[in-house]
Order: sequence, then C-alpha cells, then structure tokens
Amino acid sequence: MQYDDVIFGRRSIRGYKADAVPRALIEDILKLAMRAPSSMNTQPYHFYVITGDALDRIRKGNTERMAAGVPQSREFRTGEAFAGAHRERQIGVAKQLFSAMGIAREDQDARQNWVMRGFRQFDAPVCVIITYDRELAGSDDTAFDCGAVATALVNAAWSRGLGAVINSQGIMQSPVVREHAGIADDQVIMKSIALGWPDHDFPANAVISERRPVEEAAMFVGFDDAC
Ligand SMILES: Cc1cc2nc3c(=O)[nH]c(=O)nc-3n(C[C@H](O)[C@H](O)[C@H](O)COP(=O)(O)O)c2cc1C
Repeated sequence: MQYDDVIFGRRSIRGYKADAVPRALIEDILKLAMRAPSSMNTQPYHFYVITGDALDRIRKGNTERMAAGVPQSREFRTGEAFAGAHRERQIGVAKQLFSAMGIAREDQDARQNWVMRGFRQFDAPVCVIITYDRELAGSDDTAFDCGAVATALVNAAWSRGLGAVINSQGIMQSPVVREHAGIADDQVIMKSIALGWPDHDFPANAVISERRPVEEAAMFVGFDDAC
C-alpha cells in the first residue's frame, strides 16, 4: 500500500469481525508506530495490548459503570465541553455515523445502544491502551507524543489490512481498565484504541469524515504568491 492509500483510505472502524489478530502482526504494527517522533526522543508511552477474557472483563465493567451513571474518571485534563466550530464538527461526524447506521434523531434507545457500543470497544477482538510514564505527567509534550504514536499506530494497522478507532470511551472508567489490564502505578492511562479486522458490511465503517480545506487551517507566511 502506498502512503496516500493509507492516509486517504484510513477511517475509524467501529464494527469488527470476530477473527483473532495474531500477536506477531500486532508487534509488527507497534514497531512501525514507534517510529513516530517524540519530544527529545523520550518515547514516554507504553501499550497494554488486551484480548480475550481480560478485554471482556473491561467491556463488562465499563458497561455496568456507565449504565449506572458512574461519573467518568479519565486520568488527564479534558478541558471544557466543545463549543462553536468544534461542536459543529463533532455534531457533523455524529450525524454522518447515525445516518449510515439508520439511527433516527429521536430514537433514544438506538442512540444509547450506539454509545454503549463504544464502551464495549466496539466489540473489537483487541484493545490497545496507551499509557505514559507518570514522571512526565507535567509536560504537554507527553500528550503530544502519545497522539503522534496513536496516529502512527492506526495508520500502520490500516497498511496491514486492520481497522482501528482511537477512542476515549474505552478509558472513561479508568479504574476498570487499570484493574483488568494490570496497569502499573507508574503509568497514566491516556487513550484506548480498538483494533481488529474491519467488518466491511458494517455501515458506519464506510463513513468518510469531513476535513476543512487546507487554506482554512493553514496560514502561509512570507510566501511569494507567484511561486
Ligand atoms: C483523541 C481521540 C478520541 C476519540 N474518541 C472517540 C470515542 O470516544 N468514540 C468514537 O467513536 N470515536 C472517537 N474518536 C474517533 C474520532 O471520532 C475520529 O477520528 C474523527 O471523527 C475523524 O474520523 P476518522 O478517524 O474516520 O478520519 C476519537 C479520536 C481521537 C483522536
């Protein structure tokens, strides 16, 4: 697969086949992902790669706690709720996903089922929890580096025919994840990535989320318009 095929072809995958993913393939993907740049090459992240009974216990714990209304307990700062253009983009992709899944705006049950799917890691056969070394917790570079490696990971997965979705839903109940994944005390839980073989019949997997044009995002300074 060429670079452009990976970048333009990849999309978040929220429906998976039940087939197992070989450990050697995941190791191959992690090796690729870990070529991501990091601040001063600190590589502050670890990956807890979870499958089988341990993942099922996390799904169950997440589902029970979210259904019981236990407040989320992420281990990093989350900021204010999205507003303005950010909220519009958030709603935009949600509309695309609900439309693909045939979920009507007023169908509260279907919407709730969709949300709960995320807390089950979209029923993927594998979940990768990205953590970072607690001693680097004060630096925003650390979060930046986790994002870089997560992006590299989902692109590497795509290049090997696997699908993934980076998600916060899987780590909103961090104590559940910490317990069942056996996460060390010197690690802070940052993000989860569901991973597996894409179910190409799952409608939401066809959604191509929108991007604003480059000229809206980029400010070119000092360029001669003629060149
Ligand atoms: C930090 C982060 C958190 C995310 N959390 C969730 C999530 O909790 N649930 C979900 O369905 N998707 C989640 N996503 C996936 C985004 O919705 C998705 O990347 C975005 O809409 C762009 O779509 P694409 O990945 O298909 O290009 C998350 C992505 C990132 C980078």
